[in-house]
Amino acid sequence: MSGFGVTGAQAQSGELVLYCSVAEEWCRVMSEAFERETGIEVLMTRKSSGETYAQIKAEEGQPRGDVWWGGTGDPHLQAAQEGLTAEYQSPMLAELNDWAVSQAETSGYRTVGIYAGGLGFGYNSDLVTENPPACWADLLNEAYENDVQVANPNSSGTAYTLLATMVQLMGEDEAFAYLAKLHNNISQYTQSGSAPIRAAATGETAIGIVFMHDAVAQAVQGAPIVTVAPCEGTGYEVGSMSIIEGGPNPDNARVWYDWALTPAAQELGASANSFQVPSNANSATPDAAPKLADIKLIDYDFALYGSSEERSRLLARWDAEIGSLPQ
Ligand code: G6P
Repeated sequence: MSGFGVTGAQAQSGELVLYCSVAEEWCRVMSEAFERETGIEVLMTRKSSGETYAQIKAEEGQPRGDVWWGGTGDPHLQAAQEGLTAEYQSPMLAELNDWAVSQAETSGYRTVGIYAGGLGFGYNSDLVTENPPACWADLLNEAYENDVQVANPNSSGTAYTLLATMVQLMGEDEAFAYLAKLHNNISQYTQSGSAPIRAAATGETAIGIVFMHDAVAQAVQGAPIVTVAPCEGTGYEVGSMSIIEGGPNPDNARVWYDWALTPAAQELGASANSFQVPSNANSATPDAAPKLADIKLIDYDFALYGSSEERSRLLARWDAEIGSLPQ
């Protein structure tokens, strides 16, 4: 299918234990395509980015996973810094966009960018009919009491991206003041980053703070969701992939890694209703993908916000000042 060059005679065997942090549907499509092409059986579990980081940390010394594919880049960088993931320089690096290569360089080649997408929000246009929100500031409107959902930044990379974005946009104390006010409008901090927009699509909530491509995915499926690039500017993710240090199937891990960076593999995303910008410069970007050039993006400091110290410190402050507020 991809011309990746694995013939019957060369086919590998054995297993690959995959920790996957994108939408379940995309995880499945990737796993099945890889099995078909290589004959390697994929044992896949889907968990959010922060949860997967925590699992790999808990399994340190007795790693059970081979590859962590997908999810926001910050916890991948933290895992790299802590030596939980292995150094590997794929021959495919030469084909990648700069932002994907710089993720690899920042980590000493322990992770790499596989896709990118801007943070924003989506609202249900059946429920929000007047003065639709266009800015982060608009989400504080008291008309939206209990009408906004976002994930918990401990489990979700999406929600950690929101936290780090606000700190970079406003300064840290102002960011926490914003999040404390926003709390008045939050009905629920979900575990998974994209759950809020799924809830908005069904009308369970009016507004979900998510990556813009996750809002687009709902609209493409026919939900009355409008996608917003916040007027003040916004952060973005470099969705990443890492090989787990000491995992049981290191050769198969590298076969996955090289394959996952090919255009053919990256273009499977669109068929799985996923509309990120792929990292291989030769991969077709899905038509529905929000164009990064049209979004006012901040110069997100991945090295800082993906460092162990900063991510741990910001999450502890979020727990103390936001997570502990009465619902
Ligand atoms: C969704 C998005 C991905 C993102 C991921 C993070 O799947 O489509 O682009 O990387 O969420 O998930 P999390 O649950 O950690 O926020």
